[in-house]
Amino acid sequence: MSKHPVSRPPLAVIILAAGLGTRMKSDVPKVLHEVCGRPMLAYVIDAALTLSPERLVIVTGPEHDEIAAMLPVGCERAVQHERLGTGDAVRSGLGALEGFDGDVMVLYGDVPLVHAEFVAGLLRRHHDGAASATLTTARLADPSHYGRIVRDEDGGMVCIVEYKDAAEDQREIDEINVGLYVFRSEALRPALARLRGDNAQGELYLTDVIHQLLEDGLIVATFESDDEEMCMGVNSRVELAIVSAAMRYRLLERLMLAGVTVEDPGTTYVDWGVEVGRDTLLRANTHLLGRTTVGAGSEVGPGSFLRDAFVGDHARVVTSHLCECVIGSRCSVGPFAYIRPNTVLAEGAKAGTFVEIKNSRIGERSRVPHLSYVGDAIVGCDSNIAAGNITANYDGFEKHATHIGDNVRTGSDTTIVAPVTVGDGAFTAAGSVITEDVPPGALGVARGRQRNIEGYAERLAARRRRGSADRDDS
Ligand code: UD1
Ligand code: CA
Repeated sequence: MSKHPVSRPPLAVIILAAGLGTRMKSDVPKVLHEVCGRPMLAYVIDAALTLSPERLVIVTGPEHDEIAAMLPVGCERAVQHERLGTGDAVRSGLGALEGFDGDVMVLYGDVPLVHAEFVAGLLRRHHDGAASATLTTARLADPSHYGRIVRDEDGGMVCIVEYKDAAEDQREIDEINVGLYVFRSEALRPALARLRGDNAQGELYLTDVIHQLLEDGLIVATFESDDEEMCMGVNSRVELAIVSAAMRYRLLERLMLAGVTVEDPGTTYVDWGVEVGRDTLLRANTHLLGRTTVGAGSEVGPGSFLRDAFVGDHARVVTSHLCECVIGSRCSVGPFAYIRPNTVLAEGAKAGTFVEIKNSRIGERSRVPHLSYVGDAIVGCDSNIAAGNITANYDGFEKHATHIGDNVRTGSDTTIVAPVTVGDGAFTAAGSVITEDVPPGALGVARGRQRNIEGYAERLAARRRRGSADRDDS
């Protein structure tokens, strides 16, 4: 359903994403480089979708099947066969819009900080100005390599001159072309057909369309953005880092406004889509990446790294590395724990210092407090795995499972050689190598019995004395 009053012309959006991204020096298409864990193109598509356009066309190169694969439902792909410039890319996009009559918004896929509010404002400005084209401009302290807006003495728009084509005095201009436009389709089509590549890059510049429309006496409006950050295009990895930092701060700001305390935003890294509940404290040097969710009233960090992790409410994750795991409410993790894929800590469980757990379930209130490796194990509730326990889960060929029941108390330095089951309420003696099942309630002892050799020290001393007497004689 369109958000615009019925009197508005239909809207199509074309997003340009076919560029070679040469300055990225990469084998990955530029628009798939990630900003906060997500291809930059996805943000531009999001902004376009908020306008509920009739058509949404993404222009890609012919080899860009990876881009096609990430497009959400409702997006169409148009292929630009040769990279002849942004004007040619829009031509390719319009190829998919044959017969379309209305407004055509053109966005660049490498401007990922563009957002819903801005594109809505641009469209409004376009309608209010009854223009054939409306383009976004900005005044930048450092106009860098952007196309410059050339105006006449009365401030009227004349043309856009690309940095590479600009004369020295034109390079002094601080008003730039952001690369977000709306055109009337009937004005855009013929102007594109007339483009020539007689410029420094030998390309068909979309920006030259503006000059042509003005020459034809059509109205071109400008929409100035005061959000310098939003206007940034990503052409190199330096710009990728700057834009990523801005996006990250935007995401953190959203969390803070929703009731999350971020101790040090400068060292807290959150990916797009990460959720954190209210009254949770994110301490310094913390990464929450991928599809990570943290509940309410929890504390994460300092120095924690979570990727695709779910953490419940009132949990603590201190200086630890977590990946593809579920940490229940009121759990305690770390410091220095490594929680690997397919691990579940049920409510109130603990994985303490120098503990590694993978593909295991630790039951409610069970504890693995120190120096242990638990792999392919199911531990019941209220059990305690003492210091330095190892599940020997791999026999050199296959992984085997360990089952530890409820209310189990293992002794320190127990090695559990899987497959094995330790029954409910059972114990193991410290230093045991458990190779057989321990029945419920039993104590498994599997270690050499201690033997004390009385008077050993005296015998040793006597032997040493004899040895030195022999040497003196020789
Ligand atoms: C472009 C503008 C410049 C503006 C800047 C804003 C032109 C000629 N110049 O320059 O005025 O200040 O953006 O960021 O438009 N693309 C294609 N096919 C092509 C070439 C490019 O799809 O043949 C796509 C790219 O993938 C990219 C976008 O168009 O998403 C912009 O192209 P890019 O080469 O980055 O243009 P800039 O030099 O940044
Ligand atoms: Ca660019």
